[in-house]
Amino acid sequence: MEILRSVVVLLHIVGFAVLFGPWVVEAVARRFQVTRVMDYGLLLSLITGLALAAPWPAGIELNYPKIGIKLVILIVIGALLGMGSARQKRTGEPVPRPMFVTVGVLAFVAAALAVVW
Ligand code: HEM
Repeated sequence: MEILRSVVVLLHIVGFAVLFGPWVVEAVARRFQVTRVMDYGLLLSLITGLALAAPWPAGIELNYPKIGIKLVILIVIGALLGMGSARQKRTGEPVPRPMFVTVGVLAFVAAALAVVW
């Protein structure tokens, strides 16, 4: 059970990588677009995060305020990605810069919360 939990944590971190990595690529390439790959990373973080939010194996203690804040952050990122990609399709332009920056900053803050708190 412990090994299974570690595997799910690993997949959870892969989800973060698949969200944050493409964001860095867009920033460095100065395209500032949200991409479909970011959605996949967020979805993987959500599914694995929800699995980890259950107290298994028995006896494990979880920091529910931290988990709740990360869930809120994830929902906000999801809303920004959804609005952003719809807008990109409609206008053909990259998302407004503050929206793009917020996606990356929130993803980073969620990871920082996970590791530091
Ligand atoms: C963009 C959003 C998120 C990011 C970047 C993120 C990042 C991380 C990282 C890097 C870890 C590993 C930390 C460590 O083991 O020291 C972690 C652990 C964890 N995450 Fe997330 N997370 C996100 C969203 C969520 C969500 C939405 C949930 C639940 C609803 C969640 C639940 C958990 C739990 C329960 C752990 C602890 C695993 C354990 O110690 O057994 N995360 N997260």
